[in-house]
Amino acid sequence: MAWISKPSGTMKIPRRNEPYLTPEMRERLTREVLPRYETRQGALISTLHEVQHEWGWLPWQALEEVAEFLGLKPAEVWDCASFYEEFWLQPKGSTLVAVCRSIACEVCDHKRITDACRAKLGLEPGETSEDGRFTLVELECLGLCEGAPACLVNEKAVMNATPESISHEIDGASKHPPHHGHGHEHGQGH
Ligand code: FES
Repeated sequence: MAWISKPSGTMKIPRRNEPYLTPEMRERLTREVLPRYETRQGALISTLHEVQHEWGWLPWQALEEVAEFLGLKPAEVWDCASFYEEFWLQPKGSTLVAVCRSIACEVCDHKRITDACRAKLGLEPGETSEDGRFTLVELECLGLCEGAPACLVNEKAVMNATPESISHEIDGASKHPPHHGHGHEHGQGH
């Protein structure tokens, strides 16, 4: 395996004046989320979920703000956010199509479903369309094994998926994309 070194020291972090962790979010987190945990660090995952729910992904600036809010080092927040697949460190399309690739779905030919999505969207797994409308990914077990092959289209489960049913769900979802706080943003890779 080749070691890939990132230019962390010279990496430019896109910044904006408006905070991602808004005063309203801080207030709500302090009131509703922090009291559930013994330490502020314990609230890290819940806080990241809140921020991602609001913005659709986790920009680096948002991770720094979370670190400051919880009294952690930015690197600790980054470690956590980059460890879990469900956290997005790059912007994703307004419609997210996730095909499960774990064992039950693999046995039930998940590849047929991925291929149908690939053909319909013109994307490879991991890619987002240039217009920001769609992201296609393959994920590990979605906990829907009894309905293998299973997928998620945004937050809707599609069980016993077929190329036709997934195509139908994608059409439906793309007409009503979920609203993320302040719209779709591009600008950061990692
Ligand atoms: S293996 Fe696909 S949902 Fe569990």
